[in-house]
Amino acid sequence: MRFCLNVDHIATLRNARGETQPDPVTFALIAEQYGVDGIVVHLREDRRHINERDVRLLRELITTKLDLEMAAVDEIIKIACDVQPELTTLVPERRQELTTEGGISVLDDIKNIRTTIQRLHDAEISVSLFIEPDINQIDAAAEINADFIEIHTGHYANAIGEEDIFDELERVRIAAKHAKKLGLGVNAGHGLNYNNMKEFVAIAEIDEVSIGHAVLARAVFVGVEQAIKEMIALTRMK
Ligand code: PXP
Repeated sequence: MRFCLNVDHIATLRNARGETQPDPVTFALIAEQYGVDGIVVHLREDRRHINERDVRLLRELITTKLDLEMAAVDEIIKIACDVQPELTTLVPERRQELTTEGGISVLDDIKNIRTTIQRLHDAEISVSLFIEPDINQIDAAAEINADFIEIHTGHYANAIGEEDIFDELERVRIAAKHAKKLGLGVNAGHGLNYNNMKEFVAIAEIDEVSIGHAVLARAVFVGVEQAIKEMIALTRMK
């Protein structure tokens, strides 16, 4: 399983003082040296953490791959087409949320998402849709030509008790298998951490995970190198 690191929270810390440190671009370059497979950032419409300068510098400097999370809105689509990340992941955005709270509903916004995918494809950018592990959403994603889905793992991460955890993991497993059968690439993320990755990594159909908070939080205590290398080791377990 590949592991891409989301560095949004480094920008959150930087912006807390309105200064230049810690710099998310420098952090991303260091993370690449320790072996992450890609860098993920979310350029929000409200620019609460990552800004356009970060995205453009990352594009110029990183040597793995850039996954740009974004809402399907004109302003950000134009920036994406100009910056040319390897992958864009379409996510829902609400101003008041603490973080991305749910997947997008492809079914409820199908016209806009279809057009957005077409615009990004015209710029030769692959598109992933961040969705719940729901068969109808996956079918809709395939129908409108998404290249990947990213399965929202929040329910799995929040599950309490053996039975709940098993059920949520099963939902993800079934969704991943279904998506693979339709020819979609399968990524996953949200709330994955050092404990819940141990069982998660057994889902062979998942190509890549996108993890931010847990790794950055651990880096505060054990250092960046150890936090990243521990997560890489977990994602490589079978
Ligand atoms: N994937 C997507 C689409 C997200 O929006 C987020 C949160 O920014 C993540 C993955 C990473 O979640 P976490 O920070 O909980 O690891």
